[in-house]
Amino acid sequence: MASAAASVLIATPAHADGTLRGHAAERGKFIGAAIATGPLANETAYRNIASTEFSQITAENAMKWESTEPNDNQYTFTGADQIVNFATQNNQQVHGHTLVWHSQTPGWVQGLSATNMRAAMNEHIATVVGRYANNATVVSWDVVNEAFNEDGTFRQSFWFNTLGQSYIADAFRAARAADPDARLCINDYNVEGINAKSTAMFNLVQSLRSQNVPVDCVGFQSHLAIQFGFPNDIQQNLQRFANLGVQVRITELDVRMQTPRTAAKDTTQAQYYTNVINACNAVTACAGVTIWGFTDKYSWVPDTFSGEGFALIYDNNYAIKPAYTAVHNALDGGTPTDTTPPTTPGTPTASNVTSTGATLSWTASTDSGGSGLAGYNVYREQGATDPQLGTSTTNSITLTGLTANTQYQVYVRARDGAGNLSGNSALVTFTTTTGGGTDTTPPTTPGTPTATNVTSTGATLTWTASTDSGGSGLAGYNVYREQGATDPQLGTSTTNSITLTGLTANTQYQVYVRARDGAGNLSGNSALVTFTTTGGGTGGACTVVATTQNTWNNGYVIQPVTVTAGGAPITSWTVTFTLPAGHTISGSWNTVLTVSGQTVTAKNVGHNGNLPAGGSGNFGFQGARPNGNTALPTGYTCTTP
Ligand code: XIL
Repeated sequence: MASAAASVLIATPAHADGTLRGHAAERGKFIGAAIATGPLANETAYRNIASTEFSQITAENAMKWESTEPNDNQYTFTGADQIVNFATQNNQQVHGHTLVWHSQTPGWVQGLSATNMRAAMNEHIATVVGRYANNATVVSWDVVNEAFNEDGTFRQSFWFNTLGQSYIADAFRAARAADPDARLCINDYNVEGINAKSTAMFNLVQSLRSQNVPVDCVGFQSHLAIQFGFPNDIQQNLQRFANLGVQVRITELDVRMQTPRTAAKDTTQAQYYTNVINACNAVTACAGVTIWGFTDKYSWVPDTFSGEGFALIYDNNYAIKPAYTAVHNALDGGTPTDTTPPTTPGTPTASNVTSTGATLSWTASTDSGGSGLAGYNVYREQGATDPQLGTSTTNSITLTGLTANTQYQVYVRARDGAGNLSGNSALVTFTTTTGGGTDTTPPTTPGTPTATNVTSTGATLTWTASTDSGGSGLAGYNVYREQGATDPQLGTSTTNSITLTGLTANTQYQVYVRARDGAGNLSGNSALVTFTTTGGGTGGACTVVATTQNTWNNGYVIQPVTVTAGGAPITSWTVTFTLPAGHTISGSWNTVLTVSGQTVTAKNVGHNGNLPAGGSGNFGFQGARPNGNTALPTGYTCTTP
């Protein structure tokens, strides 16, 4: 029914039910917009759309260096605070943009000596990030923006020319020191597809992380133009970054066209928006998509690209365009065959109620729609919009960060794999205890966990204990899986070790730990431990076919590499192949690769290991070879498990 309406009414698209942010939330993703302070202050229509349709905001200009520190050590946060306050009022998150960039940075910075420039950079980051470090609305930062040239060499900016490439690592370390909880991103444009620039970004992120430089996330600006074609390998590109263990996100999406605007161009533009949302939906570690504005009335495109415009999802009069419907439907899509929600969870019971937290447990839901029970969303009952307090993959959750001496009424909804939400459970009511009020010092960050006894369904993690000097004492640890916009909590422990159970076979887990004190203060995130659960079950023959998608002078992309189960279902697979001498792997997706000598071993990831008899899954990889060498990998074999 919905698709028929959408295809008939292209000129004036139907406004399907539900907001963009509502549908994005059902997928565990954010949908964001860049916001300009002028119309935010002056136009009701602008404010209404900004608050109802989007769950994340990026300041279009108000947090840039020229706005926050126009003169040395003279800070103005009027515009930045305006954005943050608006977001807080509307239960939105703010992505901070941007700290270290060659553009929109005042002249006084650009002329400094190396010593003074490094000091100014560190001081600026400490001040700007520090201002919002304890503000729950500001959750992430673009620390370094646009560091690369199109050919993958470093941009010869004043930063690079004065400080060398070390400015990048220094900036990330300064940002982590200023806010241990913020997601720290490196951001760039023309890196959406697999190309020289994105591969340089990939290599940099891999190298920085191997040196423990705190890069948590990669931002893909995605300023697209319909006359240049769509980067069709965007999903594979996002996935190869995700396989490095970083979060990925689309940070500045717009799709411009040459004027005049026509219905045909609108249709192409809408398809580009669909493709980007679908790519983010398909990559678990993609946290969400931010559009660079929302109305054509206020878009940077006409001012920047002569003869081009109409890049956004609302027109000059705030009417929705086909691109809006495209974003809406791609977020809403889900799995068309499963429209049956899980059963309503049982009434939660509350235990361990402290001044800042409580543990809730409820009778589990069941799901008969086919996509399976995925987890639970936990909400506070509160007037018009009920804030989500957390999510859980089990029938219990430990809430943290609550306000002392406050009554909470909380309900739970079950969520299935297609995003269907159950009815609301009955409410549980509890009141947090009166806080001591004196302990606001979090415990120290736990050491990097090590994983032992990894089986197909569990693992034991151990880490160096935290200490607490705030007075309330160390209470325990929360253990989280690094995963997209909301990291599910895998469990809690009162010792510096935990045995995780209920994990999925043949799946890579990246897990971090935070210490908690008696007053509910949480430490910074420990570094990640990465482990892969072992194969679960029965074998069965499999076959493999590799397709060469693209080759060039010194490299190639092999995809899809299709694995097909024989006459019996399989739950995992291992493909091996041989790399010609002098070749290296430069990236891979939908697989976990290990290289030993010339032999490459590719194992399935969580979503493509379980194959029914005769069913297929696939992965891909990119290789590098010496200039002029035309050889390709050979000898693909598939085994189970
Ligand atoms: C643009 C803003 O949209 C304009 O208002 C401003 O005049 C220039 O900057 N990449 C980025 C963004 O990271 O900060 C830029 O924003 C667009 C390109």
